[in-house]
Amino acid sequence: MAPFYPEELIQEVIASHDIVDIVSEYVKLKRSGRYLMGLCPFHNEKTPSFSVSPDKQIFYCFGCGAGGTVVNFIMRNENLDFIEAIKFLADRARINLPEGDERGDEAKRYKQKQLIYEINVETARFFHSQLNGPEGESARKYLAKRRISNRTIVHFGMGYAPNAWRALKEHLQSKGFEEADMTRAGLIIDQKQKGSYDRFRNRIIFPIIDLRGNVIGFGGRVLDDSLPKYLNSPETAVFNKSRNLYGLNFAKNASNQTLIIVEGYMDVISLHQNGIINTVASLGTALTKEQAGMIKKYCNEVIIAYDSDAAGQAAVLRGMDVLADAGCRVKVLCLKEGKDPDEFIREKGPERFKRALNESKSLIEYKVELLEQKYDINSIEEKIEFVNQIAEVFAKVENSVERDVYIKKIAEETGIRSEAIIAEIKKNVYKNRRKSSKPVKTVKRNTGYNENIVNEKRNNANNNLNTRLLSAEKMLINLMCDDKSLFNKVKELIRAEDFNHEIHQKIAAIIYTLRANGETIDPVKIVSRFDKDEMQTVASILHAETNFEDDYKAALELINTIHKEKNILKIKESLQEGNVEKLNTLLMEYKNK
Ligand code: GTP
Ligand code: MN
Repeated sequence: MAPFYPEELIQEVIASHDIVDIVSEYVKLKRSGRYLMGLCPFHNEKTPSFSVSPDKQIFYCFGCGAGGTVVNFIMRNENLDFIEAIKFLADRARINLPEGDERGDEAKRYKQKQLIYEINVETARFFHSQLNGPEGESARKYLAKRRISNRTIVHFGMGYAPNAWRALKEHLQSKGFEEADMTRAGLIIDQKQKGSYDRFRNRIIFPIIDLRGNVIGFGGRVLDDSLPKYLNSPETAVFNKSRNLYGLNFAKNASNQTLIIVEGYMDVISLHQNGIINTVASLGTALTKEQAGMIKKYCNEVIIAYDSDAAGQAAVLRGMDVLADAGCRVKVLCLKEGKDPDEFIREKGPERFKRALNESKSLIEYKVELLEQKYDINSIEEKIEFVNQIAEVFAKVENSVERDVYIKKIAEETGIRSEAIIAEIKKNVYKNRRKSSKPVKTVKRNTGYNENIVNEKRNNANNNLNTRLLSAEKMLINLMCDDKSLFNKVKELIRAEDFNHEIHQKIAAIIYTLRANGETIDPVKIVSRFDKDEMQTVASILHAETNFEDDYKAALELINTIHKEKNILKIKESLQEGNVEKLNTLLMEYKNK
């Protein structure tokens, strides 16, 4: 597969950045020995396990196992694919990139995405012009009725899909786009009998725009009460509902540390029109972990402002937990009288809305209130259940002063003794601890091997390899990376094939090739040769620290260990096979070493 850009160019782009500078823009780093440590941007944590090695120019998180070069960091943090990340970094370093090679799979995927973006922009333009043209009269009237100003319409690029079967398709054809690509963009529905026709017809159109300003999809609303009320683009190569938020492209510019999450397109638009631009919507689905992660990047505090109907409330509860798990401080805005934010602000004005925002409840207050409504504490059974549930909620409050305040308040209101509530909380805290200590903490910090390797070890050829051997191999690899003069001194003593662990062997092979070509042993180059699945493991291996008084002496010992252990492995093998001849030769060799 031909890569999009030549390898040397990619390496030049990487080399023109210091990974520490780039990461520092997203993560607050503090020096710790030869590493810089910080809170991992890829999972929620309270103590830093995310580390960057300035010497090796790679990062690795001991908590979640994320790792790689500056490119991988940008890919994850900016939600870019590989080629986009290279362009992003080249741009920053003012390196001009030539046209890429279009033969590889990666290139094809990239081109496909670019084409969909182009089709989407043209589509947004078309729908917008239709809204302003003769066909758009009813849509203009509808928006006027909802008091959406012209400025807002332009700001959000709103449009109208005319009441016809093939208006968009014909327009895009006239612009030279292929039908198959329109279908890939999700704008055309292809049916055997009917032929192909426009997905969006007779609807108000809301273009969905990502953080880089690309039009990634569309939402469309009917002009009356017909169903379905809303229609969205399907998932495409560029549109993933669970990874985007409507309005974030504007909300990210708000100087506010709080982000308001609403349910609908119209809520976002209406609040923005009223100057409350720190508002986003979750695209009609339950809030996902990915969305929560994006939100966390732009604010300290989130206010959920969903409809006050039952469905809205259930969504609030789910959304709160997702956000809290991502590390956001969560509050809830309660709008009474079954109104959504759009209706509320239209009727009562922005000042009343802002006041309501200030009065929004904390996650705990909200949950307590729901429980108080649910249970009748005059009945003994219900009172017991109430205390159980309250305890579960309070157990999640980490600040003990805050917790005490809640306990006192509940005790006063219900006449239940504080001690009884505290006892229940203790049970829950214990339960939570047992639950949460399982998944993440299985990482072995000292060896740098994450769960994947440990599991993999169990299942395949690596299962005979003991820790001593593994760590000798790893240390040797790291010595070769750290001590530039070492390789020439030891290269005759060990070959890449002598490494036993599959990935160590691959890394060693790359090291030998690099040196054979007169290149330096650069961890970035090594990591870059692996694909996504193995890359994190490689980053974890290369992230080990070496600290020997005499590198050469240490290397000799490590090499010795590797040969010896390999020999023992072979001896075991021949024993299992019952191959006496082989066994004797091996034993001789072993003795002579
Ligand atoms: P208005 O009724 O115009 O004020 O819309 P709204 O934005 O207030 O919508 P509503 O509260 O009814 O729904 C919230 C969000 O859920 C919408 O913005 C859509 O994203 C989504 N949604 C609502 N109805 C449908 C539907 O019929 N199909 C799909 N796919 N999504 C819907
Ligand atoms: Mn509404």
